[in-house]
Amino acid sequence: MTTVREPTTPYEALGGADTFRRIVDRFYDLMDSEPRFAELRAMHAADLAPMREALASFLGGWAGGPRDWFEANPGRCMFSVHGEFPIDATTAGQWADAMKQAISEADMPSADLAAQLSQRLTAMARAMGAN
Ligand code: HEM
Repeated sequence: MTTVREPTTPYEALGGADTFRRIVDRFYDLMDSEPRFAELRAMHAADLAPMREALASFLGGWAGGPRDWFEANPGRCMFSVHGEFPIDATTAGQWADAMKQAISEADMPSADLAAQLSQRLTAMARAMGAN
């Protein structure tokens, strides 16, 4: 007899809200404390608490979880959000490196999905810095 498995989202397969919160908290802790991310840190507001909420909510919804960020920001495109910031290859690289490290330390249930998440976000960040 075969077992029928419910289809699942990357969000669920990666561990849900806790995982995304852990990644985002580590990402901003790294940005806030490591001199190699200084240029990226300088672009952000002094208080990173609102960004911790926003990025965790965005990434969770993007991975197939609750759509809170998208419902609060109808039609808002992540590339347009960043169009107003002077992102270059240096700051895009810092974003990608901090995110890669945060993901690799998050101890996720699927190493394969974690690698895919890292690759996708790195590609997105580098595209934002390519203008
Ligand atoms: C390429 C390098 C990137 C830089 C330099 C950058 C920088 C920033 C800055 C300065 C802000 C505003 C922060 C503040 O007000 O304190 C912001 C907001 C945000 N960024 Fe990025 N970002 C980058 C890439 C990304 C990527 C790849 C994503 C998503 C995959 C992302 C998701 C967000 C989100 C969700 C917000 C908050 C938008 C809102 O809810 O208002 N960022 N980013």
